[in-house]
Amino acid sequence: MGDQAKLSAAGGDYEFPVLKGSVGPDVVDIRKMYGQTGMFTFDPGFTSTASCESALTYIDGDEGVLLHRGYPIGQLAENSSFMEVSYLLLNGELPSQDELTKFEFTISRHTMLHEQLLQFYRGFRRDAHPMAVMCGVVGALSAFYHDSTDISDPQHRKISSHRLIAKMPTIAAAAYKYAIGQPFLYPDNSLSYTGNFLRMTFGVPAEPFELHPAVEKAMDRIFILHADHEQNASTSTVRLAGSSGANPFACIAAGIACLWGPAHGGANEAALNMLKEIGTPDKIPHYIERAKDKNDPFRLMGFGHRVYKNYDPRATVMQSTVREVFDALKVDDPLFETALRLEEIALNDPYFVEKKLFPNVDFYSGIILSAIGFPTTMFTVLFALARTVGWVAQWNEMISDPGQKIGRPRQLYTGPTQREYIPVDKR
Ligand code: CMC
Repeated sequence: MGDQAKLSAAGGDYEFPVLKGSVGPDVVDIRKMYGQTGMFTFDPGFTSTASCESALTYIDGDEGVLLHRGYPIGQLAENSSFMEVSYLLLNGELPSQDELTKFEFTISRHTMLHEQLLQFYRGFRRDAHPMAVMCGVVGALSAFYHDSTDISDPQHRKISSHRLIAKMPTIAAAAYKYAIGQPFLYPDNSLSYTGNFLRMTFGVPAEPFELHPAVEKAMDRIFILHADHEQNASTSTVRLAGSSGANPFACIAAGIACLWGPAHGGANEAALNMLKEIGTPDKIPHYIERAKDKNDPFRLMGFGHRVYKNYDPRATVMQSTVREVFDALKVDDPLFETALRLEEIALNDPYFVEKKLFPNVDFYSGIILSAIGFPTTMFTVLFALARTVGWVAQWNEMISDPGQKIGRPRQLYTGPTQREYIPVDKR
């Protein structure tokens, strides 16, 4: 028998099995706890709760380690491509050249959108936030691709996963084009996944589009950095939505809605807005003081993380990518200097040191995306595009798990106890 965790409570002594993963903290299996003790555990925000078993992504927040299927994010960002990482996340192993070619071909055959779906965009105001458009259009996919929504059929799951990954760049680019009043561009499957997205976003029908190889590479790397991140809020949302048997398109739309929040995917937009507000390095001390003031809601956006209590390994790659993009495009942005200085000052300030607050993936991403030409409102859309592969892989893992159950948390009820209804004229 393995390790047991002992609990003495409510006048009894209980033992619960301790489960071991391949790496990382052990977990106490409390599935039978309510049945045995009549008590629940209380963990709002899931700070001490593993909500599922997963073999996809591992994070060691204290050491600043992020592994996808065992491979460190730095190695993947340096040597791999977003399509290869997508294959890895979906299938568990890196593909052979032949497998990769076939996968890329399959994805490229699903890049177009149903023409009727393109009409959807016209129902939105031109000034709608593109994340609002993404939620709506992705949610509507199930109305167009009914033939792949039988979640008990592995082939349906595979096709819907491929469709989601393939169509997301087309959907995201169309959201951008609609906002700026330019015509939608159809996909060009002779380009890479990322090259195709850049062309659909920045190209126009009136002239040939010149793809900048360094920008394509940087964008692809940014997609890799956002591909998956264990059981974060939006991924947990996708899993919870999927646990009821909802179709994958609806589940990913739920994930997009959750990602939008400024504490999650919306932080990249918030981080750049914050840097713009700070402006020059001489204003940094004022904002650092505001971030430390408990009576001021201001926080350093792009700083801190629920899991990382060390430098976010994705932020390291992001920081070096800023320089690459600046060199390639021959641009400079004084906000980068402000960001570097802000990081330096914060990392030497006892408040940030004691609370272990480090730059996260969003701190530098806005500077790169802005240099490439994206407006801030598109930042979270790009995150959603890339994270779709993680959501889909996690959703597939959950549905394939024979022990899968509908997610149904319990609560600590603090409302009124039972009382008698009083008619309105007697109140
Ligand atoms: N600036 C100032 N203080 C902060 C910050 C910050 N960015 N982040 C955390 N703190 C303080 C917080 O006030 C609290 O202090 P105290 O213990 O005195 O009350 C302490 O640090 C712990 O913070 P928390 O909010 O309890 O921690 P959490 O794990 O619930 O929140 C977080 C994590 C990411 C929501 C938070 O750090 C934050 O709001 N950061 C800014 C938003 C951001 O950059 N989000 C992107 C996350 S990475 C991308 C993604 O996964 O989506």
